[in-house]
Amino acid sequence: MKNIVLIGFMGTGKSTVGRLLARRLGRPFVDSDKKIEMWHGMTIKEMFAQHGEAYFRQCEQEAIARLARYRHAVIATGGGVVLLEENMFRLRQHGVIIALTAELDMILARTSRKDVRPLLNKGEREKTVRELLNGRIERYQQADCVVDTTKLSPPQVVEKIMDFLQQGGYLRGRYNSAPRRP
Ligand code: S3P
Repeated sequence: MKNIVLIGFMGTGKSTVGRLLARRLGRPFVDSDKKIEMWHGMTIKEMFAQHGEAYFRQCEQEAIARLARYRHAVIATGGGVVLLEENMFRLRQHGVIIALTAELDMILARTSRKDVRPLLNKGEREKTVRELLNGRIERYQQADCVVDTTKLSPPQVVEKIMDFLQQGGYLRGRYNSAPRRP
């Protein structure tokens, strides 16, 4: 079965939704940033501070090349994974791509913890988010399915994704789109 790959800007809920979705489907959950941190023995924040963004992108590219070979997994990616076409090409080979989006205000609210996201620590945050979003939005829109998470709770986002997967025949009829009763 194909991997289910979550892409989207920082703060759109990829990790939370990915974990829930994986649990719902009984599949392993993988977070590419967490794998990068584990494989390199440092946090993303430390990586940016010590080696810069270009080095992080190189590590991200290598991580994606490894993760794209997985099967049956739910994979949450970092927001900048779309910057490199090769990443998306690899992820598409064995994966269905789901983009999570959110309105600017929601993204700003959800990314307000300053210490975690190095790209948002500099300058005026709103301006930075706007510029990064503008440069990426078209790439997120190229996903197989796009879910606006602004007004939805994580379980509601999972339901939307489940509907899409079921309608697209990705689940081979094994799952109900409504949560199962105990
Ligand atoms: C980044 C997003 C981050 C992380 C890194 C760069 C980006 O992941 O990969 O800080 O370029 O948008 P999240 O989207 O999980 O915050």
